[in-house]
Amino acid sequence: TGRTAVLLESVSFTLSSFCCEPFSCCDVMEFYCPPCETAMCKECTSGEHVEHPTVPLKDVVEQHKASLQAQLDAVKSRLPEIDLALQVLSEILQQLTNQKSSIEEDIHSTFDELQKTLNVRKSVLLMELEVNYGLKQKVLQAQLDTLLEGQESINSSCSFTEQALSHGSETEVLLVRKQMGERLSELASQEYPLHPQENDQLDMHIETEGLKKSIHNLGTIVTTNAVAYETVASGEGLRQCVVGHPTSITITTKDKDGELCKTGNASLTAEIFTPDGSVADGEILDNKNGTYEYLYTVPKEGNFVLSLRLYDQHIKGSPFKVKGTKSADISPSADSAKKRLKSPGSGHVKQKAIKRPASMYSSGKRKENPIEDDLIFRVGTKGRNKGEFTNLQGVAANSLGKILIADSNNQCVQIFSNDGQFKSRFGVRGRSPGQLQRPTGVAVHPSGDIIIADYDNKWVSIFSSDGKFKTKIGSGKLMGPKGVSVDRNGHIIVVDNKACCVFIFQPNGKIVTKFGSRGNGDKQFAGPHFAAVNHNNEIIITDFHNHSVKVFSAEGEFVLKFGSNGEGNGQFNAPTGVAVDSNGNIIVADWGNSRIQVFDGSGSFLSYINTSADPLYGPQGLALTSDGHVVVADSGNHCFKVYRYLQ
Ligand SMILES: *[C@@H]1O[C@H](CO)[C@@H](O)[C@H](O)[C@H]1NC(C)=O
Ligand SMILES: *[C@@H]1O[C@H](CO)[C@@H](O)[C@H](O)[C@H]1NC(C)=O
Ligand SMILES: *[C@@H]1O[C@H](CO)[C@@H](O)[C@H](O)[C@H]1NC(C)=O
Ligand SMILES: *[C@@H]1O[C@H](CO)[C@@H](O)[C@H](O)[C@H]1NC(C)=O
Ligand SMILES: *[C@@H]1O[C@H](CO)[C@@H](O)[C@H](O)[C@H]1NC(C)=O
Repeated sequence: TGRTAVLLESVSFTLSSFCCEPFSCCDVMEFYCPPCETAMCKECTSGEHVEHPTVPLKDVVEQHKASLQAQLDAVKSRLPEIDLALQVLSEILQQLTNQKSSIEEDIHSTFDELQKTLNVRKSVLLMELEVNYGLKQKVLQAQLDTLLEGQESINSSCSFTEQALSHGSETEVLLVRKQMGERLSELASQEYPLHPQENDQLDMHIETEGLKKSIHNLGTIVTTNAVAYETVASGEGLRQCVVGHPTSITITTKDKDGELCKTGNASLTAEIFTPDGSVADGEILDNKNGTYEYLYTVPKEGNFVLSLRLYDQHIKGSPFKVKGTKSADISPSADSAKKRLKSPGSGHVKQKAIKRPASMYSSGKRKENPIEDDLIFRVGTKGRNKGEFTNLQGVAANSLGKILIADSNNQCVQIFSNDGQFKSRFGVRGRSPGQLQRPTGVAVHPSGDIIIADYDNKWVSIFSSDGKFKTKIGSGKLMGPKGVSVDRNGHIIVVDNKACCVFIFQPNGKIVTKFGSRGNGDKQFAGPHFAAVNHNNEIIITDFHNHSVKVFSAEGEFVLKFGSNGEGNGQFNAPTGVAVDSNGNIIVADWGNSRIQVFDGSGSFLSYINTSADPLYGPQGLALTSDGHVVVADSGNHCFKVYRYLQ
């Protein structure tokens, strides 16, 4: 074949370039001398090459062919990885371009708005100047007119009298004497407004230095050169952790040359799971110097996989294998962990429960509960298809009999009917407006719009009820929005988990107010997760790391708080989802205790929802459906559950 010919040609080309030239006598080259790397005829094997081991040329060619083929295959096998890299690269390039144009738009609209504000202020000042000038000018002008009038009367009376005095006859003087005498004495005693009735002050105080300075520094382009394949993580938490205890890991971002990136704000995500799909909870703290802390807590013993991704790519060594164990020492939480095996309080809640065969739930369809607790049914398994979930977080319910689920690692929102039938889903993964990166919170606006908190995109997206993107709000303001809710004025309440504060927005994105900061004080949060609004328009926030629930007025004034760390009635081990029923009772998902508690409006413990038969595993979002059931995201089990709820 042609290929063999080429191979042979290349072989003979190689051969001819070595020391032992084939003799001209050789016409049928059948042998090969490896030391000389040359082909030759039969005669030559006993001549020039008699000392050399020779082999049939055919074998050598076969050997060369095989080795070249192997090399060919090895080279070809590199194509898929290059294809993949190209694909990733072009995605990054596309995202980068999208980001650029989106920021460009932001810059234009921000500065247009500023320009507008400036122009309005300019008009106001010009108008104020006009008004003040007008008022003063009127007073002064009136005074001027009066004085001029007086001056004119004096002039004319004087000149008339003088005329008479100098040119008039005696009879004329006598004639005007009486008349002019009276007039002159009147003028002499006339009061004139001699003191200025206004002043000339019209100044402007305008301090522009500070403003100019602010404008000079207005806005920053935030970026790093950090790349995943050079970025490293360190800490014992990469290998092991203690159940219920926060464990810390340090991540050091580096650029392509392995140099430390000295600025923060890199997009890091962490995910912890087990083969059966359980998740832990944690948060990433930006040290602002290129290093980051990841603090996480696992709710159960077992082997976990920890994925650390920078800009969607695994960092060096990720995923890590982490072993979660109960601590041996007698710390308060180890103590309570033992207690937990018994039932706290009223005697139920977190039993080890009857383990049902996994196959029972494997279809991703609605499953009835064959064992008597409050569970009506559950929907979903781990997966990426319709009705399947990967780390579902927020849930919402609308008045039209729908349940909405924020499926955070599938980058979508899935919609079900109240009875658990899959209806639709929407969401495309990405970092451009209209795309989702990590939807953790979902709420329904009275207008029907669907509001989604996107933790990793650091904004809140608003979609129409049929899943069409409308707008995004909070961009550049939010650091890590987790939960969303809507108050009675139609304002959007956003829990910024990372910034430890709560934002209230108008639907157009204007900030109404903002409250809270990091800490353990009343008006502070140690790890706020979800929000609900009661019929007094008060805002209820779960504080995961403070193990409490805090209630604020619509204006953000602290009203009350309840809960402490523990497993007794009314205690929490990291509260997450929250909802309010029509009587103002507060329903709270207790993540670490894997239970749901009910409180009255003042925070007194009322009861549990009985979840004992099919235990929850790290419940997240929680809502009340339009038919009065409680729906909860059972994150660790990658399903949502609907419970009976007696109000
Ligand atoms: C009045 O007389 C003075 C000086 O005699 C003159 O300067 C002034 O213009 C006159 N005013 C009027 C209103 O005629
Ligand atoms: C990160 O971004 C924020 C604004 O979102 C900015 O205030 C801060 O200075 C940035 N930090 C670093 C280290 O670049
Ligand atoms: C970065 O900041 C953290 C917290 O402030 C500090 O512990 C750490 O040493 C800093 N690292 C570097 C490399 O500067
Ligand atoms: C919860 O339901 C189980 C049945 O699955 C029952 O045995 C238990 O007593 C119930 N707990 C409470 C507190 O009602
Ligand atoms: C929660 O905050 C309170 C103060 O409001 C503080 O006393 C308590 O120690 C905090 N709890 C935890 C677990 O940090």
